[in-house]
Amino acid sequence: MESNIFGKRLYFGVLLFTAILLTIAYYLMPFPPLTILEGQFSENSQNMDLYITETNKTTKTHQGTNSVIASKGFWTINSIGRLGNQMGEYATLYALAKLNGKQAYIPQAMANYLSPIFRINLPTLHESMWNKVHWQNYQLNDWMEDRYRHIPGDYVKLTGYPCSWTFYHHIREEILREFTFHDYLIEEANTFLRSISKGQANVTYVAVHVRRGDYVEVMPNIWKGVVADKVYLEKAMSYFRKKYSNVVFVVTSEGMDWCKDNIDASKGDVHFSGDGQSGSPARDFSLLAHCNHTIMTIGTFGIWAAYLAGGETIYLSNYTLPDSPFLKLFKYEAAFLPEWIGIPADLSPVLVRK
Ligand SMILES: *[C@@H]1O[C@H](CO)[C@@H](O)[C@H](O)[C@H]1NC(C)=O
Ligand SMILES: *[C@@H]1O[C@H](CO)[C@@H](O)[C@H](O)[C@H]1NC(C)=O
Ligand SMILES: *[C@@H]1O[C@H](CO)[C@@H](O)[C@H](O)[C@H]1NC(C)=O
Ligand SMILES: *[C@@H]1O[C@H](CO)[C@@H](O)[C@H](O)[C@H]1NC(C)=O
Repeated sequence: MESNIFGKRLYFGVLLFTAILLTIAYYLMPFPPLTILEGQFSENSQNMDLYITETNKTTKTHQGTNSVIASKGFWTINSIGRLGNQMGEYATLYALAKLNGKQAYIPQAMANYLSPIFRINLPTLHESMWNKVHWQNYQLNDWMEDRYRHIPGDYVKLTGYPCSWTFYHHIREEILREFTFHDYLIEEANTFLRSISKGQANVTYVAVHVRRGDYVEVMPNIWKGVVADKVYLEKAMSYFRKKYSNVVFVVTSEGMDWCKDNIDASKGDVHFSGDGQSGSPARDFSLLAHCNHTIMTIGTFGIWAAYLAGGETIYLSNYTLPDSPFLKLFKYEAAFLPEWIGIPADLSPVLVRK
């Protein structure tokens, strides 16, 4: 008797355990199992059709992430540059794949960059798969073009450094959802902002991102341009001081020494993040994005911080000479939203060189 009941219990126990294990394994799959087969059967179009239909069925169970659609093939994008570039590439892939009715997958390197910071939803293409796919490269400019609505191919790898809002602003809500911060970054940013509010209610936080680093040399020497100077930052800060009461400026930069020498902190309303040391990119970025408004200088890091913050944005404009080769790759009107406020750069340092 005893051993019989025990035997039955054991039997049902094992059955239950197996069922739970299978369920967990299924939901932990990075993408639906049948989608994996697609790439391997790519030569056989009849098989493909079968798998597409099957994939749609599978997809429904994965609608929680709302990111895997029924389509043939894989679309992806190169993973190059630092945080701002990676975000631009991600958002552009997301938007163009959606426009073309294709499923986007991000490379492992991009996932490594972005997933510790944001709750991104696009599935990652495992490196072993990545190497099996015969990619068709498709070079993008950094502004939307009509032809990008009909990019041919099922195994397309987009290339370039796209970042422009012209690719993705029509699905702004979705892009902002993709770039939702993990809780630890939200908490850190809020704790820091509270700590500098001095107990005042209704503080207006203005993020100031000062891009220095390699640009200090690259702008004049390669692009016949300038980076933001002291006068630009003073103009931008004075705009916010006049418009809002209780303004607090939060400065982040990879050139904090320059910032401390050139940003007037004597009014007591300027805070250099991380005690003036250059912080980690993720923390700095989250801090900027949690402010109410943005002063950016140049670079995609500042553009994305402003896009996520969503308030008023002041940017440096016309920062190269008109004959700069930079303008073949970059359009001001595609980089900065129309409602952002541009302050033209003082080009005299590069005019003197000429
Ligand atoms: C896939 O599912 C969606 C809705 O979930 C439906 O609109 C679409 O027609 C389906 N596609 C195929 C190929 O079955
Ligand atoms: C808080 O500040 C904002 C912007 O400066 C202003 O519009 C709003 O009226 C203020 N609210 C209170 C309660 O002071
Ligand atoms: C300004 O930013 C702070 C910190 O993110 C936020 O708590 C506050 O609600 C924002 N104020 C306005 C008027 O949006
Ligand atoms: C930049 O230059 C263009 C062309 O000269 C001009 O139309 C535009 O207003 C300038 N932008 C700013 C912010 O001054």
